[in-house]
Amino acid sequence: MTQEKLAPATAPAVTETPRAWTRRHLLDVDDFAPAELEAVMQTADAMKEVLGRDVPRVPALRGKTIVTLFYEASTRTRASFELAGKALGADVINISAGGSSVEKGESLIDTVRTLQAVGAGVLVMRHWAAGAPYLVARHLQTAVINAGDGAHAHPTQALLDLYTIRNHLGDVQGRRVVIVGDIEHSRVARSNIWSLSAMGAEVIICAPATLVPEGMRPAGPHGGRSNGDSSQAHALPPVKVETNLDRALENAEVVMTLRLQKERMQAGLLPSLREYATLYQLNEERMSRARTGALVMHPGPMNEGIEISPGLANSLQSVIEEQVTNGVAVRMAVLYLIVRGAKP
Ligand code: CP
Repeated sequence: MTQEKLAPATAPAVTETPRAWTRRHLLDVDDFAPAELEAVMQTADAMKEVLGRDVPRVPALRGKTIVTLFYEASTRTRASFELAGKALGADVINISAGGSSVEKGESLIDTVRTLQAVGAGVLVMRHWAAGAPYLVARHLQTAVINAGDGAHAHPTQALLDLYTIRNHLGDVQGRRVVIVGDIEHSRVARSNIWSLSAMGAEVIICAPATLVPEGMRPAGPHGGRSNGDSSQAHALPPVKVETNLDRALENAEVVMTLRLQKERMQAGLLPSLREYATLYQLNEERMSRARTGALVMHPGPMNEGIEISPGLANSLQSVIEEQVTNGVAVRMAVLYLIVRGAKP
């Protein structure tokens, strides 16, 4: 195991790489042990301390080059990876597929090999195709971090969500977390289900039956599981499924709502945005069913007035901006662990 001793004046308060970390890539959190999640959380605490300094920079990754390669739009993820890399002293290059040689027909593999050839030590990539980062990781020596692949996974979002919840509630073991919205098409929901379940949270998903992943769809003509039965989805840990938001919110300590993509209506999965908002919008009145002070979360970007009311999004219960802020410390932790962590 690599042990990193860094000069105290310039280093994060991490004096050795957590023993639990042995990964070369971060592709998903679906196989993370609690100790690995804990390693990210503790490293993120150290990075938060760095970000609180007058000069929020350390040379931990000086001489390294991080390339962000995005085939889909992003504000939060890309900006926070860039800030994270720079705060650790790395050089950061941002590439969007639009405007790159992808537009001239260059393949994904040729593109990433080119970036490796110019010296990328870490490739942070977002792609519309589920599995694309796995394919890339098989072809490169460069470390790969998945910044979102299709509807499959968004591991750093799940890590920053876990970090935000822990900062408010401490241990997440036994905490009731409701994830409401388009679960079927949400990489955020999938990664959160994995990480929160691994840490012992009680996860409840809530959506219209048409937006629940097939293996989790509730039984019965009305699609309700009001008896609290759990349903194990294919390739996801067991979670409770509830199609009625008011029931789902009872005793919730954390409520995470997801962006509703308007394409879902065109695909015939929803009758109208108005009906969705009536049945599934998170608002102040609905949140009164949850525990007092329950956290309101959203990965962003939000459709205020559809999946969340503007009042709730901007209320004292909302930690939505804090999620974004924590994204920098958590992504610093991930970059640090990937580059400096022990590898088998
Ligand atoms: N949550 C999230 O991934 O946001 P961006 O699409 O802005 O990166």
